[in-house]
Amino acid sequence: MSELLRLDAISKSFGGLHALSDVTFNLREGEVLALVGDNGAGKSTLMKIVAGVHAPTSGRLYFEGDQVVLNRPAEARVLGIETVFQDLALVETQDTTTNMFLGREETTRFGFLDKKTMREQAGEILAQVSINVPSPRALVRRLSGGQRQAVAIGRATAFGARVLLMDEPTAALGVQETDKVLEMVRDLRRAGITVVIVSHSLDQVLDISDRVAVLRRGRLVDIVATEKSSGSELVGLITGATDGKR
Ligand SMILES: Nc1ncnc2c1ncn2[C@@H]1O[C@H](COP(=O)(O)OP(=O)(O)OP(=O)(O)O)[C@@H](O)[C@H]1O
Ligand SMILES: [Mg+2]
Repeated sequence: MSELLRLDAISKSFGGLHALSDVTFNLREGEVLALVGDNGAGKSTLMKIVAGVHAPTSGRLYFEGDQVVLNRPAEARVLGIETVFQDLALVETQDTTTNMFLGREETTRFGFLDKKTMREQAGEILAQVSINVPSPRALVRRLSGGQRQAVAIGRATAFGARVLLMDEPTAALGVQETDKVLEMVRDLRRAGITVVIVSHSLDQVLDISDRVAVLRRGRLVDIVATEKSSGSELVGLITGATDGKR
């Protein structure tokens, strides 16, 4: 698999706190990379740097071999880097269609919002995700956690995403909805989209990912091939208990 994104010596400080120190790794095209680590290890900070939310304090990002500087999420989106955060940033009081087209609304040639086209497109997009969303007119407030996730993933992928960053997408979901979101991740992978998923569930990580990157106190301690790893190895890497034994 070829390299899509490369993080080179990325560090991020918030005042005197070193959230990330010297993180270097690459993301391969079409892989599912799980990012694990204890609370405060720097996972969300790393995702936000790739998403263009935070600028790194030092270090460089490369996309398809070229150095890129992402000052805003919109600049990441131009490259096809999309994010589904846990709070999802959906507008509760609006319908599904409006949420899918936030910031990229279709207009008619007279400059009015083209609701009809957007609804048709939203219907097609939602038909492609594994979770059943009642209708493009359904209010987000009335959707379940999994359905909201489907809208957010649909929104992210419908617009030509190359990389989808998912920060604890299933943390607030029940068993069935979690399974459906994981099914969507498999669909994305089959479609050739690269996925980075943060999760505290090691079973989930072992089930869904190709590789696992482990962060501890802001440092990348290892990246392992999932099929050659195990829950106990990951726990050891996350906590530091196996340090010195490798
Ligand atoms: N905007 C911010 N300002 C100041 N400190 C921050 C900020 N964001 C994160 N931090 C700090 O950086 C460190 C890493 O936080 P981060 O949110 O990346 O951890 P995480 O691995 O995602 O943890 P969790 O599993 O709990 O979500 C923490 O010590 C956190 O308090
Ligand atoms: Mg986090």
